[in-house]
Amino acid sequence: MHMMRYTELAEFVARQIEAGELAPGTRLPTHRNFAEEHGVALATATRAYNELKRRGLILGEAGRGMFVRDPALPQTLGLEQHGSDGLIDLVFNIPGGQNDSEVLRAGLKRLAASGDLASMLRYQPHGGRPHERKIIASHLSSVHGPVDPDNLFITSGGQHGLTIAAMGLLQKGDAVGTDPATYPGFKSISALQGLSLFAVQGDEGVMDPDDLDRQCCKKQLKAIYVMPTVHNPFGTVMGEDARRRIADVAERHDLIIIEDSAYAFLETSPPPSFVDLAPDRTVHVGSFSKCVATGLRIGYLIFPDRWKSAASRVIRATTWNTPALISALVTHWIEDGTVAEFEAARRRLGAAGQKLCQEILAGIPMAAHENASFTWLPLAKGERAEPVIARLSGKGIAVSSAAPYAVGDAAPQAMRLAFGGISEQELRFSLEKVRDELAPCDCRTSP
Ligand SMILES: Cc1ncc(COP(=O)(O)O)c(C=O)c1O
Repeated sequence: MHMMRYTELAEFVARQIEAGELAPGTRLPTHRNFAEEHGVALATATRAYNELKRRGLILGEAGRGMFVRDPALPQTLGLEQHGSDGLIDLVFNIPGGQNDSEVLRAGLKRLAASGDLASMLRYQPHGGRPHERKIIASHLSSVHGPVDPDNLFITSGGQHGLTIAAMGLLQKGDAVGTDPATYPGFKSISALQGLSLFAVQGDEGVMDPDDLDRQCCKKQLKAIYVMPTVHNPFGTVMGEDARRRIADVAERHDLIIIEDSAYAFLETSPPPSFVDLAPDRTVHVGSFSKCVATGLRIGYLIFPDRWKSAASRVIRATTWNTPALISALVTHWIEDGTVAEFEAARRRLGAAGQKLCQEILAGIPMAAHENASFTWLPLAKGERAEPVIARLSGKGIAVSSAAPYAVGDAAPQAMRLAFGGISEQELRFSLEKVRDELAPCDCRTSP
């Protein structure tokens, strides 16, 4: 009888997964049962599973067994949009922790045991369930001043919050000031909504109030989009003085301030937010993606009374409501301290990554927040990012250029490394390769 080799066995299972016969999440037999089923030695079964793991088709969960992965997702845990297949992904910042599955399982169990479960099957108010809005508002009061739950809506993530601001408060052709490098998701909603983005000069994510003043006169800006607490991509925290001066300019020119706080939890003692300094003209976009999990798709919006019905209309037209299953899960996690634990874990992970960056990329210019899982590397004068990125890709590492972030004429020559979703070992390997590309020849390590 023909004895199957481990490669054949792995191929056999891979075909079943790729054909959809083994659906994502399916529990696979134990190594022993797998070996018995196919009449092979235990060592062969183990090698076949290892091969499937290496190919990213299955994954092991401690104490629970082996499961089929969703082949649509990259190995680094989240959504992949640029086809960096098989590469170590430093493009998308996808935070994840070792025991996320356990935390989710416990949260779902608790949810399943809660009363009036059937209410979650119904449509909800557009802005979310009132008691959950209250929980989120009081959670935020430790960072901002008191937040009135009447001025807070639950959204389906930060991107949805930006969409609500762009569609509800702005119109086609409106001019919006941003930093010269800004969050690409804001560029995409602006393009869809026909907004014109203008780069306001500044210092790595800290908008210059004087240039803002000039641009307001020249371009008739209607709004600005800012990330004052932990800017993406620079990681900067704008000082209080700059915030106050920008709020003054906004007041004089009647600007809407779109304030994005997706990464703000990384900073433990932030200056006052625009929503505190200029509450009548600020729409504050928050998200639980970076501090908890990207896949839950939940965030919140804080706004003054006058924008309430506009925000509600956009939610009605886009999602109707954020699923109550998700808002219930996350608000439980706020109440029992899980969100705070997630946030602290993300900060620790970011800080450890930054330490590695400092160690391995010593002497190379970088901009980053001390707790962030991303860093910005401006290239030396005359150096172009594209060939460096292509060479890194050849070494199995995907990084982003400045182009997706750039607003205005010329994208700076820089690279962004996001390491929220990769292992320490992968990060170390990647940083060493980056260093070998960027360090001046005389201090390059030997190959
Ligand atoms: C600055 C910033 N804002 C908003 C978002 C949107 O996040 P989400 O829609 O996942 O909440 C992101 C995601 O990367 C981001 O970096």
